[in-house]
Amino acid sequence: MNEKYGSLFESLTLPNGVTLKNRFVLAPMTHYSSNPDGTISDQELPYIAQRSKDIGLVITAASNVSDSGKAFPGQPSIAHDTDIPGLKKQADTIKAEGAKAIIQLHHGGREAVGDLVPNGDVVAPSAVEKEGAATPRALETAEVEQIVEDFGEATRRAIEAGFDGVEIHGANGYIIQQFFSPFSNRRDDEWGERLRFPLAIIDKVTEIVEKHGSKEFIVGYRFSPEEPETPGLTMKETFELLDALVEKPLDYLHVSLMDFHSTARRGADTNAKRIDLIKERINDRIPLIGVGSLYSADDVAAAKATGVPLIALGREMLIDPEFATKLKEGREDEIVSLIDPARTDHHGLTETLWNIVLQTKGWVPTKAE
Ligand SMILES: Cc1cc2nc3c(=O)[nH]c(=O)nc-3n(C[C@H](O)[C@H](O)[C@H](O)COP(=O)(O)O)c2cc1C
Repeated sequence: MNEKYGSLFESLTLPNGVTLKNRFVLAPMTHYSSNPDGTISDQELPYIAQRSKDIGLVITAASNVSDSGKAFPGQPSIAHDTDIPGLKKQADTIKAEGAKAIIQLHHGGREAVGDLVPNGDVVAPSAVEKEGAATPRALETAEVEQIVEDFGEATRRAIEAGFDGVEIHGANGYIIQQFFSPFSNRRDDEWGERLRFPLAIIDKVTEIVEKHGSKEFIVGYRFSPEEPETPGLTMKETFELLDALVEKPLDYLHVSLMDFHSTARRGADTNAKRIDLIKERINDRIPLIGVGSLYSADDVAAAKATGVPLIALGREMLIDPEFATKLKEGREDEIVSLIDPARTDHHGLTETLWNIVLQTKGWVPTKAE
């Protein structure tokens, strides 16, 4: 291995005492490939096995905790006990490659798809209109409490299925972020207090882990630092969230960024990188995962050199699932950073994901045909 990549292969011990073998994280990625009822399909298993090799922490695709939260066709479900056998196969597949298996817990809220949820009933904190989207129905107070319970039940299922942990999906505009956002949460009951829902979910998840899991069970939290809307989340609100999160018994925080080096839009020094602002605010109180448009060995080395302890790769791991292995074996020259539409192995992607990647121009870097 080239010495300059050495620090990526150092182990890291999380606050709960669990040691990750290296600093690579597989970013959670929706693949649209589970069975129509949300159970794990056979095509998902080789896909995730291939992407678990030489990775410390593997985070699965967003998995819906309630039927009302389903936001993608082919989304995996963790909403029913009947999902557990398939989830167990998924956890076993990841762990067999030597990675820690983390399932991402998700509810789409207003981003759920009418055709995929019972009675087309799309729910959210408030019935806020948004251009180009149907207006959701505001949740009743009891329904909000039920969704908190659903995250708890999903955690119990993750434990029963043998996962090493869960990641609470508080990012990318889904229900947890919707409750935290001044744009989407206009409630006047107690859930209008915007930090209440994210913190209630964390408390429920950690309560279930104490009850059914072990000390080694990992609980992480993913967040998005800013929203484009006004009013909307800015770095200022993100700092408030971080201050609350570091007080909770979490094992890592995971920022969701499309570009690791992007700068702040509002609520902080707009010349500063979001990742630096977040790192500074956290001040090493909890491990942070950074992510976003890292495609080469040197991109990853530069990201690690910022002092962020864990580095997630998303699209690059769709393109080249052997990224970490090649780095480990001193074969960084062989890293592939473009999807090749002519490749007959389809880069090991499931058929559905392969077709979506090819059709969605500009989403994943692709070789010109
Ligand atoms: C195909 C695809 C599916 C994604 N699905 C999820 C998801 O289920 N949960 C999530 O938190 N982020 C999801 N993301 C965002 C990624 O986790 C990651 O933050 C983003 O792609 C930036 O990292 P990258 O440049 O390494 O891909 C998805 C991204 C892609 C490309």
